[in-house]
Amino acid sequence: MTGEYTCVIRKHELTAPDTYTLLLEPEQEIPFRPGQFIDLAVPGFSLRRPLSVTDCEGGTIRLTYQLTGPGTRALSEYSGETLNILAPLGNGFLLPERGEKLLLLGGGIGTAPLIFLAREALKRGCQLTAVFGFRSPDRTLFQKELAGLDIKTFLCYDSEGENVVSVLKKEGLAGIPFAACGPIAMLWAVDEVTQAPGQFSLECRMGCGFGACMGCSVKMRSGMRRICKDGPVFDRKEVLWESFR
Ligand SMILES: Cc1cc2nc3c(=O)[nH]c(=O)nc-3n(C[C@H](O)[C@H](O)[C@H](O)COP(=O)(O)OP(=O)(O)OC[C@H]3O[C@@H](n4cnc5c(N)ncnc54)[C@H](O)[C@@H]3O)c2cc1C
Ligand code: FES
Repeated sequence: MTGEYTCVIRKHELTAPDTYTLLLEPEQEIPFRPGQFIDLAVPGFSLRRPLSVTDCEGGTIRLTYQLTGPGTRALSEYSGETLNILAPLGNGFLLPERGEKLLLLGGGIGTAPLIFLAREALKRGCQLTAVFGFRSPDRTLFQKELAGLDIKTFLCYDSEGENVVSVLKKEGLAGIPFAACGPIAMLWAVDEVTQAPGQFSLECRMGCGFGACMGCSVKMRSGMRRICKDGPVFDRKEVLWESFR
């Protein structure tokens, strides 16, 4: 059940250019599924900011956020001891069956929810391959985490003329069931080159974050869908990319 929780900040630090890691310990353990998100109240801002759960272990929620505008800037400068969140939100990824193959495709900060998914899929004995793309090597996220997990990993960089889609094609990975999160242009291109079943985690500007305001409604193949409540994860067959232009 979604609820409002006060969390103690256990860690809050810059871990890559313009990118922060935030560890929150809620007053009670929150049962998250990979791909779900929290809505964080940034002190001084009336509208909450949605952030994906990068990982959740022993009740501690790990978030990774990029400086985007005034809300994330104020968060990075916040020196209080607690933060208020709404959680858990959204549907999350469908977990693969035991032993299945899964391809994780992430672009930039969109790699964040794939770490939690990777850990849960590995617990099910799945065979994982990750293709993570970033603008340049200094902006790489989660390299240490990936190295510590049993995942075949490809890191690629715009600055070196490679991206998630070019690696997908070059390495012959387009037939493996996938879960993808990243910029819309990347996801759209992934949809065009892959043949396997797939799930996309999508983003848009949000209002309430829990399905009440309809502010995040987007036209999908089966009708209007709320990204916050019906998503953020959608089956590839459902997504109408033109809606995100
Ligand atoms: C389900 C979900 C999960 C998310 N997970 C993460 C995460 O794990 N890490 C992370 O860094 N960010 C994540 N985001 C995006 C994050 O919520 C925004 O970057 C943040 O709210 C921006 O707040 P701000 O006040 O700093 O910037 P604002 O002033 O709100 O925005 C600055 C600029 O960014 C654009 N923008 C803001 N939010 C979005 C958005 N959701 N999609 C596209 N453009 C946007 C605005 O149009 C504006 O141009 C997620 C968003 C959603 C919907
Ligand atoms: S943000 Fe209010 S319904 Fe999705």
